[in-house]
Amino acid sequence: MSVLVSITGRNNDKLMAKLQEALPETKIEQWPNCENMEDIEFVLAWNAPDELWQQLPNLKVVQSYGAGVDGIPLAILPSSVKVTRIVDQQLSVDMAEYVLSHVLAYKLRHREYTSNQTERYWKPRRSVAGDSVGILGLGELGCRTASLLSRHGFSVRGWSRTLKDLSNVECYAGEAQFEQFLTGLDYVVCLLPLTSATQGILNAQLFSLVSSECLLINVARGQHLVEADLLNALDENELGAAVLDVFTTEPLPEAHPFWKHPKITVTPHVAAVTNLDTVVAQIAANARACFANQALQNRVMQDRGY
Ligand code: NAP
Ligand code: GLV
Repeated sequence: MSVLVSITGRNNDKLMAKLQEALPETKIEQWPNCENMEDIEFVLAWNAPDELWQQLPNLKVVQSYGAGVDGIPLAILPSSVKVTRIVDQQLSVDMAEYVLSHVLAYKLRHREYTSNQTERYWKPRRSVAGDSVGILGLGELGCRTASLLSRHGFSVRGWSRTLKDLSNVECYAGEAQFEQFLTGLDYVVCLLPLTSATQGILNAQLFSLVSSECLLINVARGQHLVEADLLNALDENELGAAVLDVFTTEPLPEAHPFWKHPKITVTPHVAAVTNLDTVVAQIAANARACFANQALQNRVMQDRGY
């Protein structure tokens, strides 16, 4: 009955110490320095290596160290293995603030004035017109983002798989209402999980339905976006600009055209970063529930992929 932490690309010393403090009786190991793979029942994972999953004969639970679970190979895990993810108030607040700040920056032309300042060029303009924002995905992050934008006076639409009933949000659901949801939007925010149904959803067809000054904000996953379609839509003035926080290849390769595109803002996957101080308690609670065969918090439905 032990825990394995397999989180690549960051220093996990503080996380390991906090987890051990929360689970004093439990042996906690860190990949790849694991003594006995047969003892591992609970894995905390983020960007875990593919070869890990076949080496865990007694695995019971995989906990994602984030809201997304696309890095966990749901299809190859035995059906007895349960998967959970992070749901955290702070994560939702951070995401909503990231989106609001970029919507306002575009509306108030921050990027344009910053560029003008470098040229000592004085050119006052009205703010960008149009206040309809569409949010793809009305889950934990999408709902909080929709609510913050509506409180700031934006007219908010939301789209999900199953129909929602949210105050101050015009709700749409499913493929049948996709076009209606998108038509004429001034801002589109992607907050969908990455699944076979959502991969490539930010494409030429979507760009053709929104306003030609529309700002695209992708804060979900890089694979939601068809990169060539975005570059084409921006260059043909079919779309206003894009803010991208997530990419198919991360870090974004140095030679990638997004870095220097005048209509693209790049941020390094920071819209809502898991805060170990606020999530250790739910991870420890799930590990205890796993060992005691009790119900887990924030289960992922493996058959639907999120
Ligand atoms: P969530 O609570 O699972 O919500 C997902 C939403 O997407 C739900 O409303 C769901 O509809 C909808 N959806 C799923 N498949 C759909 C489909 N085929 N058609 C229409 N709607 C669909 O997820 P979340 O916690 O809000 O997180 C969303 C994503 O944000 C994560 O998966 C992750 O990729 C990304 N993320 C990014 C960052 C960052 O820093 N950039 C940080 C955290 C998370 P139903 O409500 O009907 O099920
Ligand atoms: C970050 O991208 C997350 O899924 O939590």
